[in-house]
Amino acid sequence: MIIKPVIKGVVAKNAHPLGCQQAVKKQIEFVKSAPQIKNGPKRVLIIGASSGFGLAARIALTFGGAQADTIGVSFERGPNEKSLGSAGWYNNIYFKQEAKREGRKAINIVGDAFSKETRSQVVEAIETYFEGEVDLIIYSLAAGVRPKANTDEFWRSAIKPIGQSVTGNTISLEDDSWNTTTLEPATEEEAESTLKVMGGEDWSQWVDELINSESIAEGCKTIAFSYVGPEVTHPIYLDGTLGRAKIDLHQASHALNLEMANFSGGAYATVCKALVTKASVFIPGLSPYLLALYQVMKEKGTHETCIQQMQRLFSTKLYGQDKVPLDGERLIRMDDWELEPETQSHVSELLRAMNETNFAQIGDYAGFKQEFMQLNGFEYSGIDYTQPLKTEDFINLKP
Ligand code: NAI
Repeated sequence: MIIKPVIKGVVAKNAHPLGCQQAVKKQIEFVKSAPQIKNGPKRVLIIGASSGFGLAARIALTFGGAQADTIGVSFERGPNEKSLGSAGWYNNIYFKQEAKREGRKAINIVGDAFSKETRSQVVEAIETYFEGEVDLIIYSLAAGVRPKANTDEFWRSAIKPIGQSVTGNTISLEDDSWNTTTLEPATEEEAESTLKVMGGEDWSQWVDELINSESIAEGCKTIAFSYVGPEVTHPIYLDGTLGRAKIDLHQASHALNLEMANFSGGAYATVCKALVTKASVFIPGLSPYLLALYQVMKEKGTHETCIQQMQRLFSTKLYGQDKVPLDGERLIRMDDWELEPETQSHVSELLRAMNETNFAQIGDYAGFKQEFMQLNGFEYSGIDYTQPLKTEDFINLKP
């Protein structure tokens, strides 16, 4: 079959396996040539390892100087009669192939990270492949639902403002159209459900379970990713349901830090830069900001993608230093360049001028869209997308 991109709104319905392979290879090439991670961890568990920040972290730690072995948990779709499967499925497969080639262990566990079964599989894998202990736990889930334990019910996240409605613009990647929408404020129940799905509780439970199974090595660290953003994004992000969940995650990091101190380790919420990922394009009202930010940071030469953020995190903040550099709220700030005042004042100027007719000229829509397409394996120059792929070549690949 010939695979052409199918985009519905802001969701890619298919992926090109060879493009995903290319994406993994390009990230590996980058970290090999970047400043290396010193005194890095050797045995790493990544929860949410198949795309975005989790995949980038896995690649940085394996190929960017630490030579880590990894266990990656993700929820991805393999091939069936209708489609070849999701991008993350192939990211897992091609990452593992490359890691094995360099003599690194790479174990992929595909299942629901909230479920007991997946957690047991992880503990078992740590026993089998890591001599029973991990040196770093990365929590990088971006999920929409979380099952309530021992019931058939779910918490569902709702990305909404709190207290007042917010009108904002979203760009449809399906037809490149600019759409104005008004989001009504979340109910208390929606805010609480979002906190259950995206807050710190599940991260804490993962770490507690790993402590109980005696899987934590001396010096073990754990990180989870967060976003704060400038004031212009606060109505939909920081002051909304997602922000409330992230504040809960920050608080969880303090309690976890005390627990990890028993192992001479630490726990840190890590605030990253706004980037195009499968998860972030889903946030209503955020895309004009991303367009303006990309435009300004690329002009200034400070733009980073997930892989650049992760390599910088591990080589300059989390490892190789006497102390992890933290802000006044005990957060690691990888959004330092995003929030530079000069950058933000230029971004605000662009946003004020941006509208439905000029967004592609004023902002970096071309870059935004290309990154989105490449997340799903499309628009890589080295690939001939007119060539048909044989389904059987991919059905037999196992993560
Ligand atoms: P992503 O969508 O690229 O990756 C999410 C990962 O979670 C994937 O590996 C997916 O398979 C996995 N996952 C989702 N539900 C799962 C489940 N039930 N069980 C197992 N695995 C599951 O998302 P992205 O953007 O990398 O997000 C990761 C974290 O980074 C999130 O906490 C997000 O809030 C945070 N972040 C993202 C920023 C952005 O601009 N993209 C900025 C700052 C923080």
